[in-house]
Amino acid sequence: MIYTLVRPALFRIDAEKAHGLALKALKHAPARKAPGFAAGLATRVAGIEFANPVGMAAGFDKDGEVPDALLGLGFGFAEVGSITPLPQSGNPKPRLFRLVEDRAVINRMGFNNGGAQAAVERLEARLGRPGVVGINIGANKDSVDRVADYATMARLMAPLASYLAVNISSPNTPGLRALQDESALTGLLDSVIEARGAVCGADGPPIFLKVAPDLEPADIDAIARIAIDRKLGALIVSNTTISRPPLSSPHAGESGGLSGAPLRDLAQQRLRDFRKATGGAMPLVGVGGIATAEDAWARIRAGASLVQLYSAMVYEGPGIAKAICKGLERLMKRDGFATVAEAVGTT
Ligand SMILES: Cc1cc2nc3c(=O)[nH]c(=O)nc-3n(C[C@H](O)[C@H](O)[C@H](O)COP(=O)(O)O)c2cc1C
Repeated sequence: MIYTLVRPALFRIDAEKAHGLALKALKHAPARKAPGFAAGLATRVAGIEFANPVGMAAGFDKDGEVPDALLGLGFGFAEVGSITPLPQSGNPKPRLFRLVEDRAVINRMGFNNGGAQAAVERLEARLGRPGVVGINIGANKDSVDRVADYATMARLMAPLASYLAVNISSPNTPGLRALQDESALTGLLDSVIEARGAVCGADGPPIFLKVAPDLEPADIDAIARIAIDRKLGALIVSNTTISRPPLSSPHAGESGGLSGAPLRDLAQQRLRDFRKATGGAMPLVGVGGIATAEDAWARIRAGASLVQLYSAMVYEGPGIAKAICKGLERLMKRDGFATVAEAVGTT
């Protein structure tokens, strides 16, 4: 309600500046206890207890500044990052665009973040607080050994994370998505698993792998096989797309990754593809174009154990997680499920 009044003013401001203001507002808002929902929304995935299945996707809180504030808004989990070993400024501005007519976003941020050290200090300070906080890790643009970057990040972040999300699907770091190729991916995951083991032994956080929606069927089969073989905790499907479905906004021609409503059907299809390829043997996190409880429910019924969103919060405001959870309670009841977990992969 309040957001409907604030939004026109916010949308007159440059998108990246508005994002900065949103972060600032969350940082200074009084601490809030996470709202409660029906018990059936709580779910256990990869050995982690989630209060509800609706998470904040990576990229909103790149530096791990406001995970607790996000949990206080009703998100069942917050994924911070992507964080890289060294701080980096990302691509030249402007690099973030609202496509209002399409309820979409195009970004070519390029992993702008304050680096691992600053994030470690921040995340160490919140250790012991309740709530699931995943840490999404990436590689520096100028790194000569990207696999070593992921291993470094796994070593630094494993003790602080509920789960580690290995992001090899950002379209804004040249060459990064090549890590999705079979032999590169195997080597990368082995290094990350070894690094996690070196600091956490057998008790380390599960590893989630975040993939692009722009994959060929053969890639999907190979990734599914490797994920099962390496006993990953989950696959996050998906990142932004470099494809361009029909768009009507004046910013449609900007380069970068497209997210929001025009990504929804593609991300839903990729989720189905991964469900088929994994045969239900690997939990999936559905992300891309989710804006309503109906979208989240469709993703869950198609095989997602958890969902995430980012772009829809730009358009719907900070009440979105709560609204979706309330809607999920209703849809669960309507379709005769006592828990969300029971509904996963039922269409
Ligand atoms: C501005 C922006 C920055 C993002 N940064 C990251 C990132 O650093 N790491 C990552 O894994 N995904 C990043 N993403 C992708 C989102 O996590 C998500 O996968 C994608 O936006 C699709 O979800 P949505 O349609 O709900 O936004 C970013 C998305 C946006 C819009």
